Amino acid sequence: MKTVLYPGSFDPVTNGHLDIIKRASKMFDEVTVGVLVNSQKSPMFTADERTALIQEAVKDLPNVKVVQFGGLLVDYVVKEGITAIVKGLRAISDFEMELQMASMNKKLNDDAETIFMMTATEYSYLSSSLVKEVFRFGGEIEGLVPTNVYQYMHTKKRV
Ligand code: PNS
Repeated sequence: MKTVLYPGSFDPVTNGHLDIIKRASKMFDEVTVGVLVNSQKSPMFTADERTALIQEAVKDLPNVKVVQFGGLLVDYVVKEGITAIVKGLRAISDFEMELQMASMNKKLNDDAETIFMMTATEYSYLSSSLVKEVFRFGGEIEGLVPTNVYQYMHTKKRV
């Protein structure tokens, strides 16, 4: 069985992320969404909140599961026997950092392959950071995040 890992901070998951998850789920036997827990960033949402929000958003995709991971990505990939890492590429600006990470992961473990998928054009400008910034200043984020994330953000009113 070919399992791919889609890792990220997902703070919070956006419709751009969800689009990659849905498309990857059609291409691979199983997609594991890996939520990073030990980010040095100060997330708006806890790892458990981020995980639960993704779980709700992907509940209709039977071959998608959501896990939390800490430490090195390659260690998790090897431990779980994952075939490849999937990342979304929004623009040329993403490429440099993604190439750096893919190369480092391959250096750490030669079996760690990274596959890139182009983000859908309607989400090419979208990021979790921008969603949070727009939300903080009272801007409209409908259509940018899954409905459950939209509702959760408005309920929690976290800034
Ligand atoms: O959504 P993000 O914050 O861009 O995701 C970045 C992520 C989680 C993919 C990256 O930070 C990562 O893999 N972190 C785990 C630690 C690690 O393995 N670092 C070396 C990667 S080159």
